Amino acid sequence: MDLKETIYKRQSIRKYDGDSLSDETLDEIRQFIHSARPLNPDIEWSYDIVGGDNVRTLQRFKAPHYLLMFSQEKDNYLQNIGFIFQQVDLFLQSRGIGSCWIGAGGPKDYEIPKGQKFIILIAFGKPQGKLYRESSEFQRKIICEISDERDSKLMPARLAPSAANTQTWYFTHNDDGSYNLYRNKRKIKLNKKMDVWNQIDMGIALAHLYVTNEDTFKFSLDGPHEGLKNKVFEGTFTI
Ligand SMILES: Cc1cc2nc3c(=O)[nH]c(=O)nc-3n(C[C@H](O)[C@H](O)[C@H](O)COP(=O)(O)O)c2cc1C
Repeated sequence: MDLKETIYKRQSIRKYDGDSLSDETLDEIRQFIHSARPLNPDIEWSYDIVGGDNVRTLQRFKAPHYLLMFSQEKDNYLQNIGFIFQQVDLFLQSRGIGSCWIGAGGPKDYEIPKGQKFIILIAFGKPQGKLYRESSEFQRKIICEISDERDSKLMPARLAPSAANTQTWYFTHNDDGSYNLYRNKRKIKLNKKMDVWNQIDMGIALAHLYVTNEDTFKFSLDGPHEGLKNKVFEGTFTI
């Protein structure tokens, strides 16, 4: 299955069979990560693949592998990490490997790369049970809730994963065919980290639009845009 098709089938996996993936598979994953497109090439980032001993999470489940992501704190670094590693999430699932973004966790007994900060992790491994879901099983907002116009080109972004399924993205259409991306401000701050996670979510949604429009996707952090009430402008893009 290719990355595009995976968008319509993927789901977060929270049950793993415990077996480690082969060294060859882990190498393929590393190769893919190195070839993934960044949203902002001026930001330094890094990653590592570790086992459960180097991770603390609040989750009840355990996975055989974890991807730790680190970044320089600069410009749109949270979007950038979401953008790069959602391509990786799709790659894993396209190869029959289960995965789940984990906000509630971090590295343990681990030396963080100098000049970078730990951002987030992804659990992955062979799934116990079914990997893919039917399209009817996606729990997502309807398109009118996330866009000023009904537009099937935004469908891949609509299906993107987000922290606690908050889906705080909002898209508007410009006269020249480009789009603006906004993030809904959350009225109730149940979790202090939700603002951070929701910025990662913006990059995740953009990754789905990049994967489905590889040749035409262009993103810019600024551009003429309207201020919208209770929304933060997150950039302009063409697809
Ligand atoms: C930034 C981010 C953080 C997340 N943190 C967690 C987490 O800590 N624990 C968890 O079980 N799932 C976590 N998830 C997974 C979401 O709950 C999940 O993507 C969302 O509910 C949509 O479901 P789906 O991925 O199966 O389509 C996170 C997802 C994202 C994008």
